[in-house]
Amino acid sequence: MSKNFYITTPIYYPSGKPHMGHAYSSILADIFARFKRIEGYNVYFLTGTDEHGQKIQKEAEKNKKEPKIFCDEISETFRSLTKILNLTNNDFIRTTEPRHFKSVKEIWTRLINSGDIYLDKYSGWYSVSDEAYYDKDEIEDKDGKKISKISGSTVEWVEEESYFFKLSKFQKKLLDHYKKNEDFILPASRKNEVVSFVEKGLKDLSISRTSFSWGIPVPENKKHVIYVWLDALTNYLSALNFPNTDDKMYKSFWPADVHIIGKDILRFHAVYWPAFLLAANLPLPKRVFGHGWILSDDKKMSKSLGNILDPIEIIENYGIDQLRYYLIKDVSLGNDGSISMENLKNCINNDLANNYGNLCQRVFAFIKKNCDNKIPNKVDLKEDDIKLINNIKNNIPKLVEYINKQNLNEYIKKVVNFSFEANKYFNDSEPWAFKKKDQTRMHAILYTIVEQIKNISILLNPIIPISTKKVLNTINISDKDILIDSIKKDNILDCNSELKSLDILFKKIENDN
Ligand code: MSP
Repeated sequence: MSKNFYITTPIYYPSGKPHMGHAYSSILADIFARFKRIEGYNVYFLTGTDEHGQKIQKEAEKNKKEPKIFCDEISETFRSLTKILNLTNNDFIRTTEPRHFKSVKEIWTRLINSGDIYLDKYSGWYSVSDEAYYDKDEIEDKDGKKISKISGSTVEWVEEESYFFKLSKFQKKLLDHYKKNEDFILPASRKNEVVSFVEKGLKDLSISRTSFSWGIPVPENKKHVIYVWLDALTNYLSALNFPNTDDKMYKSFWPADVHIIGKDILRFHAVYWPAFLLAANLPLPKRVFGHGWILSDDKKMSKSLGNILDPIEIIENYGIDQLRYYLIKDVSLGNDGSISMENLKNCINNDLANNYGNLCQRVFAFIKKNCDNKIPNKVDLKEDDIKLINNIKNNIPKLVEYINKQNLNEYIKKVVNFSFEANKYFNDSEPWAFKKKDQTRMHAILYTIVEQIKNISILLNPIIPISTKKVLNTINISDKDILIDSIKKDNILDCNSELKSLDILFKKIENDN
């Protein structure tokens, strides 16, 4: 079985500052990447920026800058966000890089050679903001403007010469693929949307534009630039040194294991992208996971609505682990979720400070005071101790399955529960009561609870990497042992070793009022 794992985020339009919606897609992908790494996989995690097209050209003009200079500046803010979010991406691709041009040209040539491209004229509705074509039944009137019913963005009438991709030809193949590969699109509700869209029939897709120039030129006709979505989707291959299909990167990581995307770009990833790949005679990604939106004031964040939440500001005030944890805990992954500062504070106080943080701090303080600050030996464990430890171990296959289906909500629910149980165990077994009368029993209880802290910290590590690493270092677990396998093993804890000191893990947040 291959132990390679390739995961991607969408590549972001560098049309404005990154916001919480972008941070969300990236954090989700990072959590899965980190989990697969500690599961022993060789992971390649890609993110980047999507820099061509009319939207970017217009935005650059508005800012009186050359598009490339404009993209250089804003792409950099996305690159620095990867550091602020503590992402472990292996690569950051920009669609203005030569490696990407090469790969897009190859895709184009493959589609020409397969006979799936023809020249015609496009007339219809186009949204620059979505970089998407819409049918007339997807358009409505609002305040004297034509808008897309799907995204709400303004559309304009476009008539121009265009190359077309024979998308209609792929309807049956796509439907067969969805049927045969049940988990190709997750969550299931998203899959149904896509299936009914494709069942209604597919029209050929315009894949070049002539009314502006900011893009990758069509190799045989420089009047045209390649449609930005055909250009952008190909990034997932460019990063693997495509077109060199003999290259180690391509061989190891294609097809991608999962493209993490927002639900608004599902059609592009679950319909157009597989159709392009089928035409190019390349394997299809194994999964497209469409998450819901982060809502601000119950609406999708957008520059035009002025309701943007700035992740950097929140991180400065509360911390990155805190934000990562909150987004996973409070937003149901497949659905839209409103986020609120009130809920963020409650989550930090209740889950992080009072539950996991408190468990670690009080156990370490007790060991410092009563055991010479040393991790007790594993001696005379009772049935209840073993049961507690085994409960996590026995749940590993289930937890791995949750992650493999991107079911982070169930995953975190279970792990938080382990932490509640560990706290309860500590309270109920009252190690302090054995201080004088039975040191062996006290040590058995403390050994058990440190084992639980180790295991819970490993499980939380992909979500809150900084804090869990501090805890694991306190109990002398080295970075190379932060592995799912270390939960299964009994000999990872260095008994008798001295605990390192640990600062407050999570500061409680006072309410303003
Ligand atoms: N450039 C395209 C993606 C090309 S991928 C080959 C694009 N860029 S984007 O910057 O507009 O959006 C990138 C991602 O951010 C999308 O997955 C989108 O769903 C996500 N989000 C943007 N706003 C969002 C929220 N308010 N909430 C959650 N995610 C949303 O689309």
